[in-house]
Amino acid sequence: MSPLSPQRRVYVETYGCQMNVADSEVVAGILSAEGYAFTSEISEADVVFVNTCAVRENAEERIYGRLGLFSTYKRENPHLVVGILGCMAERLRTNLLERDLIDLVVGPDEYRKLPELVEGAMNGAKGVAVRLSRVENYDDITPYRAEGVCAWISVMRGCDKFCTFCVVPFTRGRERSRTLGSVVAEVRALADQGFKEITLLGQNVNSYRSGQFEFADLMLTVAAVDPSIRVRFTTSHPQDMSDRLIASIAETQNICKHIHLPVQSGSDRILRLMNRTYAVDGYRKLVDRIRKSIPGVSLTTDIISGFPTETEAEHLMTIDLLREIRFDGAFTFKYSPREKTKAWEMGDDIPDEEKGRRVWDITRLQHEISGERNRLLIGSTLPVLVEGPSRKSAQDFTGRTDDNRNVVFPHADEQQGDLVDVRIERSNSATLFGVIDRATVRRSAEPYQEDAA
Ligand code: SAH
Ligand code: SF4
Ligand code: F3S
Repeated sequence: MSPLSPQRRVYVETYGCQMNVADSEVVAGILSAEGYAFTSEISEADVVFVNTCAVRENAEERIYGRLGLFSTYKRENPHLVVGILGCMAERLRTNLLERDLIDLVVGPDEYRKLPELVEGAMNGAKGVAVRLSRVENYDDITPYRAEGVCAWISVMRGCDKFCTFCVVPFTRGRERSRTLGSVVAEVRALADQGFKEITLLGQNVNSYRSGQFEFADLMLTVAAVDPSIRVRFTTSHPQDMSDRLIASIAETQNICKHIHLPVQSGSDRILRLMNRTYAVDGYRKLVDRIRKSIPGVSLTTDIISGFPTETEAEHLMTIDLLREIRFDGAFTFKYSPREKTKAWEMGDDIPDEEKGRRVWDITRLQHEISGERNRLLIGSTLPVLVEGPSRKSAQDFTGRTDDNRNVVFPHADEQQGDLVDVRIERSNSATLFGVIDRATVRRSAEPYQEDAA
């Protein structure tokens, strides 16, 4: 601990994927070990960090928008240190220092240097640390987490898939996995702190490998730590979805029955251009295997619309695939060209308006399908992990089913972290609404049985 007096306060704002959320907790862990405190008010902060995303241009634009606001705080407090962390820092590097506002630019593999860099910045030295590492996985850092029910754990970093549209392999570097032992130790500690759900994270989480252990081994070991803790994982690449992993999900009571399995397109030609390494038929067969092995599994996906040269006919193939597979949910993105990627060199020939129309077509269809799939659950009673008050009404709680559906229900004396049975009464495409079935109310201490639903 450095003798800091008075204690300096750090404000962290996080954008992008769950890996960034987990990384911000690692950053907070590193800084709290050095005696820093945290604040949720920018006006009280000595240090402001923005943990950024570079996956699409609009993600970056949003961050530039926020920087305008930070400038006003810096005018009031010229000693304020402003640091850009994460994927945009890695992508734009020293270019970001051209803005007077910014003091520090620190990429995802350099967070151990933050205490030193902040000290320097307090003395007027701007700093850049953007080296990517082949080994850094912050194995020994204890993330600083707010108390709660659900925790995220990064189990691998980087990505080696090089999908031609994607900037992640450039902003996060090469794939590397944490040791199984370090992940399990973290899960044990979280269980002792009362967490009830753990999500194992990686850009390509199912390509996890550490020594002789693959992702299925990790999942099974983590799930065995405490059968009353739910285990989730994201994001899976279809190429690494092994039969053994599918069987492990099927056979393990507390591994949640939900797989986010981005397909990106329904056209083989586009999938080839994207370097996704599978064809539509292979994906279809994989979905069949998953659905046969894991009854009741929910599947969600990501789609990119308007990839270079995508024709109307190819767009319709994506629509047809969505109709055929009937995902439980889908995120659809307009293709956004990213410098350094292979697709960048293919140009960006689909007009923005046309991309928008294709996204809208897909969103509308998926909305309908998600609504229909949710409607099928009306009348059933499902175990729901209580996460906290609903955003819309203090009388209601929100939680999620095993297969990752949002559920809203009125509560009485239940608490965060309880597992309750909710009888579903109505639904829309995003949410189920119901009432607690008090005849069978359970507490989180009792692991639930699959057949109870
Ligand atoms: N590693 C995950 C997710 C990566 S980013 C995977 O492989 O699926 C999340 C989603 O953003 C991707 O699935 C993709 O649909 C979308 N995406 C990534 N790069 C994009 C780009 N350049 N333009 C539009 N969408 C993009
Ligand atoms: Fe990007 Fe593809 Fe890696 Fe996912 S698998 S992070 S889309 S390169
Ligand atoms: Fe964005 Fe980086 Fe995640 S680009 S999606 S924050 S890995």
